[in-house]
Amino acid sequence: RDVSGPEQYRPGIHYTPRRNWINDPNGLLHHNGLFHLFYQYNPLSSVHANMSWGHASSIDLLHWEEHPVAIPCDANEQIFSGSAVFDAHNSSGLGTTDNPPLVAVYTSAYTEASPLAGRQAQSLAYSLDGGTTWAKHAANPVLDRGSANFRDPKVFRHTHGEASYWVMVAVEAEAHTVEFYRSDNLTDWAHLSSFGPANATGGVWECPDLFELPVDGDPDTTRWVLVVNLNPGGVAGGSGAQYFIGNFDGTAFTSENTITNSSATGQERLREYGWLDWGKDYYAAVSYNDAPDRRRIMTGWMNNWDYAADVPHGPWRGAMTLPREVTLTRQHGVIRPAQRVVAEVDDAFQARPSSSIGPAGIPGGIQLLTTHDADAPQRIDAVITRGTATEFGLMIRGGNGHGTRIGYNTSTGCLYLDRTKSGVVAFNPLFASIESVPVDLVNGTLALRIYLDRSSLEVFTADGLATITDQIFPLETTQELSAYANGGSATLDSLTIGYLS
Ligand code: FRU
Repeated sequence: RDVSGPEQYRPGIHYTPRRNWINDPNGLLHHNGLFHLFYQYNPLSSVHANMSWGHASSIDLLHWEEHPVAIPCDANEQIFSGSAVFDAHNSSGLGTTDNPPLVAVYTSAYTEASPLAGRQAQSLAYSLDGGTTWAKHAANPVLDRGSANFRDPKVFRHTHGEASYWVMVAVEAEAHTVEFYRSDNLTDWAHLSSFGPANATGGVWECPDLFELPVDGDPDTTRWVLVVNLNPGGVAGGSGAQYFIGNFDGTAFTSENTITNSSATGQERLREYGWLDWGKDYYAAVSYNDAPDRRRIMTGWMNNWDYAADVPHGPWRGAMTLPREVTLTRQHGVIRPAQRVVAEVDDAFQARPSSSIGPAGIPGGIQLLTTHDADAPQRIDAVITRGTATEFGLMIRGGNGHGTRIGYNTSTGCLYLDRTKSGVVAFNPLFASIESVPVDLVNGTLALRIYLDRSSLEVFTADGLATITDQIFPLETTQELSAYANGGSATLDSLTIGYLS
């Protein structure tokens, strides 16, 4: 990897394809010891076109191997987003009892050449060799409502009392609804119910997901999480991932956090809804089917349709976020999702000798702490206590007037990420931005866990209840890690930089 050439911003531990365009993660499935990551992929160039399913796999969510294109587009259809299941009992008949298939459920976006031109409908492809090669089902599409905006099917096996069947959630993107279907064979689908419009509807609804989780680890108290990605109209502008928490009774979803009577307007109103991430670069987030240990592991496309076509990547364009484990926890009587980077990735970071700093006072102004290894993926853990400062935080990849600030504003009660001076920002007017999320200090203290991987920052705080994910394109020469305090002083209780061992 040439660190000053076109590979400069290639992340170390976030998935990128060797070349060409990617967007949404698709068909996330753990099967036979492998995590399969399919994704929206243009096999020919670095723009959003010729949508096909690219493919990578990993045993540990940390090391990825890229495979040949799994499901290519053709003259009649682009292969839009969707999911994949292991059809263990060969309910679809697409395999055999001895060799049951993996089945991908994707959106056929029909081209002008097709008799179904302009429509979006759901189709199947199947694999009899563990996901290496795929064939399209002869009877495609299997679910066609005659709609131009019906897409992004998430299918999972649902067991409900005595009954067990396949459930599909897919969006009517422009109508802002999630449509629920059931099937016994993945081919014939019966409509169950519809959810929405609700909460954020300022763009199109895309890439839904639905799963059940225990609350605070109690298997007798569960909630269902309905994820609805939205573009534009996300909390940070452009693309964003919202969630609803509630119940799914096998037929319909009912939400506990639909906000109907609020006096807030505009941006303030958006902030009342549930968001999986408050940054600009967490989109199309969906979860793995059949992840080990009943974990719910999500990955998003680390990008934003606002500027995705312009990001200064190299021979590729686009990256995935780190995989995150999602749990539910009750806080002040409200059930909320908490996220952490999966242990497989998190445990790989180790502090180097002399990479721990503090306690140290942060008098007013900015204070250099150390230089960080700009080229190495790293995890920065910091604990800062407020003192008399009105604003305090860290400056990452700083120097020569550049740097990204991750800090806390005591008058707004928000954690923020300011990338307006983060390096290369002018490639698109919507890129230079400041993101913020309401966070309560605990006894005046802010604890941050920050993943820096050359061209991205994923910030976790408040036990994973708040996250901000943002791309950055720092200048090669900016390697300073500093702390700052405005309007008074603060204390850096501790700071540790972990690198991959
Ligand atoms: C979301 C999305 C999906 C669609 C896919 C096309 O980013 O617009 O709704 O299936 O991308 O690439």
